[in-house]
Amino acid sequence: MTDIELLTIAKKASEKSYSPYSKFAVGAALECKGGLVFTGCNIENGALGDTICAERTACVKAVSEGYTEFVRIAIYAESEGYCMPCGSCRQFLSEFDREGEMEVLCAKAGGRYVSHRLKELMPYTFNY
Ligand code: THU
Repeated sequence: MTDIELLTIAKKASEKSYSPYSKFAVGAALECKGGLVFTGCNIENGALGDTICAERTACVKAVSEGYTEFVRIAIYAESEGYCMPCGSCRQFLSEFDREGEMEVLCAKAGGRYVSHRLKELMPYTFNY
């Protein structure tokens, strides 16, 4: 699957976003080893701190279905700047990136994107 295809899936997932408070819709597409893709969107809550980001939604869906090995994650928002994963999502995803190979594609409005390794975005991650 190409980066663009994965980003297109992330964009489609952003349409499911439940974000009545921020009105900032985010979609994620998490590609597992073997090619299966789990999607996620941000899901907000009136207790704002209980909001879950798109990346963690996708990761929780995958892990709860038995998939824990990930190759890439694409993140899409109609934002001015590239939609980078927040600190909590970096930590959360790094749990499943012990080899340090997971790629993170971050898009912005119009579809341009940047690619990083998760380990670049989250070096010296907490693990035990
Ligand atoms: N959000 C994500 O879904 N992913 C991120 O990595 C950053 C933030 C969501 C959470 C909230 O619903 C909205 O974007 C504004 O912060």
